[in-house]
Amino acid sequence: MERTLAILKPDCVRKALVGEVIRRIQEAGFVLRALRMQRLTRKEAEGFYAVHQGRPFFDELTAFMSSGPCVPMVLEKENAVEDFRALIGATDPAEAAEGTIRRAFADDKGQNIVHGSDSVANAAIEAAYFFCARELAPARD
Ligand code: RTP
Ligand code: MG
Repeated sequence: MERTLAILKPDCVRKALVGEVIRRIQEAGFVLRALRMQRLTRKEAEGFYAVHQGRPFFDELTAFMSSGPCVPMVLEKENAVEDFRALIGATDPAEAAEGTIRRAFADDKGQNIVHGSDSVANAAIEAAYFFCARELAPARD
């Protein structure tokens, strides 16, 4: 089954939306495969978003992502990567489609509630950034 790596960002935790967002994710057919709450250090946030190093929003992004606890999770579903990006909507909530998680809950492009991997290859890399092999082992025999 395809996997994607999601993060409920610090704004999601601060707004007490963790339960509601997970409910929407499960309602959309995603299976929770691994999950924890943790506060990233600045260095860990910089490592996770290393692909954006040098972009004008990098400092703001990594400061925000290390500003409080977040909830990384691995989700399973057929076509998980693409379907999760559709469920969360465009990066900027003002451009996100009606009914998407970012449209419903995000304040702005910088603080947009949730991360979703952008490819199957990156999903595997990102899942390994947060979870060890034992945590990612198949749920069933
Ligand atoms: P994510 O990686 O968090 O799922 O978001 P994304 O794919 O929709 O967007 P991406 O281009 O990967 O950007 C990563 C995060 O950086 C922040 N950002 N701010 N102020 C800006 O112009 C700007 N552009 C991007 C957002 O928090 C975005 O989610
Ligand atoms: Mg991205």
